[in-house]
Amino acid sequence: MTRIRLLGTALAVVLLLLQASLAAQVTDAPAPQKELEKERDPQDQAKPLRRPRRSSAGPRMYMGRPIADVMSFHGADWLVRDTREQEEQPEAMLDALKIKPGSTVADVGAGVGYTSLKLARRVGSEGIVLATDVQPEMLQMLAANARAAGLKNVRPIRCTSTDTKLPEGKVDLVLMVDVYHECVDPETTLQGLLKALKPGGRLVLVEFRGEDPEVPIKPEHKMTFAQVRRELEPQGFKFKEKFDFLPWQHIIVFEKPVAKDKDKVEEAPARSKADNP
Ligand SMILES: C[S@@+](CC[C@H](N)C(=O)[O-])C[C@H]1O[C@@H](n2cnc3c(N)ncnc32)[C@H](O)[C@@H]1O
Repeated sequence: MTRIRLLGTALAVVLLLLQASLAAQVTDAPAPQKELEKERDPQDQAKPLRRPRRSSAGPRMYMGRPIADVMSFHGADWLVRDTREQEEQPEAMLDALKIKPGSTVADVGAGVGYTSLKLARRVGSEGIVLATDVQPEMLQMLAANARAAGLKNVRPIRCTSTDTKLPEGKVDLVLMVDVYHECVDPETTLQGLLKALKPGGRLVLVEFRGEDPEVPIKPEHKMTFAQVRRELEPQGFKFKEKFDFLPWQHIIVFEKPVAKDKDKVEEAPARSKADNP
């Protein structure tokens, strides 16, 4: 009898423990994405959802500036807003870059392809647009947009913050429209882009002007010209030119240096005795 009572008590304890552990699992489970979305104010969709890793001391910093949050695909509508044409004048921006038909152009951080599609028309059927992004959801929308526009020369490429996934030495122009300030690992990204460019190829940053308080964009999503130079030149890029005719952004152009003449002499094959007069 005592044994049966003891067995009963042990069983009750095990059942209680099981119940407690199940309850803990339920409360620890993350809220489903749909519910998180319901909580968000629809007006807030353009604001970044994803928070980069922050230390208790605040946002991640690079060379004295905060690295901005990656703009979530949930806010993708903002990239095709009605007022964008007027605010950013993308065709005038592309005219300034004098892109040649047949070029290989990388639209890095392409989002839903707002600029990629315009680039694809400029490089023509002989050229190609390598449209990269870290968010697969952005690339799905980009691919659908390219298909709907009947463009066959846009190649969506999923990259990471440490691997540009671009082919080495094949790219004529890398364009980053409103992207560089979001790169979580700027040095690795820049080194990858330098490798991808042909010698003499260009890297163009289009960034909201950090010097201008009138530009209605959060400070961490803007860049000053001085800061851009400070960050890019030590990574091996040569400043080429800057255009300031856009309402809110500057267009900053860098070049991958061609091998110096001195290096060319050193690399030249040694002359044989027979070559000597
Ligand atoms: C503000 S959106 C701009 C999108 C597009 N360039 C445009 O102008 O419509 C920034 C985009 O950069 C992407 N991005 C952020 N960090 C990146 C990185 N390291 N490499 C590639 N894409 C990145 C984001 O996923 C996002 O799609």
